[in-house]
Amino acid sequence: MEVEAEDGTADILTREASVIAPTLARYTSLVIERGEGSFIYTKDGRRYLDFASGIATNNVGQCHPRVVKAAIEQTQKCIHAAASVVHYELHVELAEKLVEITPGSIEMCFFANSGAEAVEGAVKLARYTSGRPIVISFIGSFHGRTYGAVSLTSSKAHYRAGYQPMLPSLFHTPYPYCYRCPMGHRRQECSIDCLNYLRQMLHTVTPVEDVAAILLEPVLGEGGYVVPPAEFVRGLRQLCDEHGILLILDEVQTGFGRTGKMFAAEHFTVRPDIMSVAKGIAGGFPLSAVLASSRLMKAWPAGVHGSTFGGNPVACAAALASIAVIQEEGLLDNATRLGNMILSRLHELKNQHPVIGDVRGLGLMVGIEFVKDDGSPDKEAATRVRELCLEDGLILLSCGTDENVIRLIPPLTVSDEEVDIALATIERGLKRCR
Ligand SMILES: Cc1ncc(COP(=O)(O)O)c(C=O)c1O
Repeated sequence: MEVEAEDGTADILTREASVIAPTLARYTSLVIERGEGSFIYTKDGRRYLDFASGIATNNVGQCHPRVVKAAIEQTQKCIHAAASVVHYELHVELAEKLVEITPGSIEMCFFANSGAEAVEGAVKLARYTSGRPIVISFIGSFHGRTYGAVSLTSSKAHYRAGYQPMLPSLFHTPYPYCYRCPMGHRRQECSIDCLNYLRQMLHTVTPVEDVAAILLEPVLGEGGYVVPPAEFVRGLRQLCDEHGILLILDEVQTGFGRTGKMFAAEHFTVRPDIMSVAKGIAGGFPLSAVLASSRLMKAWPAGVHGSTFGGNPVACAAALASIAVIQEEGLLDNATRLGNMILSRLHELKNQHPVIGDVRGLGLMVGIEFVKDDGSPDKEAATRVRELCLEDGLILLSCGTDENVIRLIPPLTVSDEEVDIALATIERGLKRCR
């Protein structure tokens, strides 16, 4: 029988195993007590530097005082009333804010609760307003776990196994993952063949007049933190314009400053027709949004889509506070500056450790790809380094279709000193792994 530690950690894990569905995969066995800034404190009194940020969500750090204050004040006034039952100013104020900070012709919002819901809402909007059925997404992309979202997802076959048949009329095309070019090119020789493949697909498999939308993660998230060439993203925009196809950008992971710009689309100067956002929107509160032009939104009549909790007042208050923190506390600059510093230090480590095949990212969305001597993916090394770092007080996550990429996604409030600690921990992990 398990001996209960004084702090109750073992007991909580035992109780958890009997009541929480094991399908919820776990990266760590940490039982936490509280969080503050870039740190998480466990019940057994340990402190961890958190470079996972609740899966790229705590963009303003754990329990940012302005987010806490806004949420408490709103909690004392009204926790929930449903935006389809009553009207409240926070709902409008947050929509106005999102319209102000999003790129291109985003003019209206629909609020939901999770990233998957925002993706599904975006796809429903595209199908409904275009009258076309087909949606094309990219191999390696992750869009969520609900039926529609997982049908669009292809970052791991494991996520799709056992659930067939998936939603019909959804197709996948290669993502420009230049380190492992799906077209077999070397980076220097690339002629953006992924775009040519897509053109060929429209010519042969998916008739353009039936294609409602193309759905793109502007930086591949769960699929391995891959930054596409700007020509690809711009070419995709052009292709969509040529054929009247809507371009949906899934900025669930990249949004709200994660890449050093408020939205990753700005790096490519590309205008989305529809965006889905979630994760970093509300300082850790569950909230998401479908964003689009008023032309599209006004063609989506009352009642054909909806949500009970979407746009919950406490989440809206937290989101307004969190966005204000990102804008007023220089977090975009911090993400760019520290992201560049992390990349350059990781490039130095790459020169010393052949197990690192590639280092890449934008802002504070950075990936380290682990490889074997023959260049094939090395999941074991990535897992080992991640586990050694955890033992040493640093929480990291992995990603990639082969789970051989370690991702660094600290809060955008992270300090130079905290980045130094994380990099030193990773360096120690690499040495011990060797
Ligand atoms: C790009 C992207 N889209 C959608 C989702 C799904 O979000 P959620 O888990 O909130 O449903 C995720 C989650 O990781 C994501 O990274």
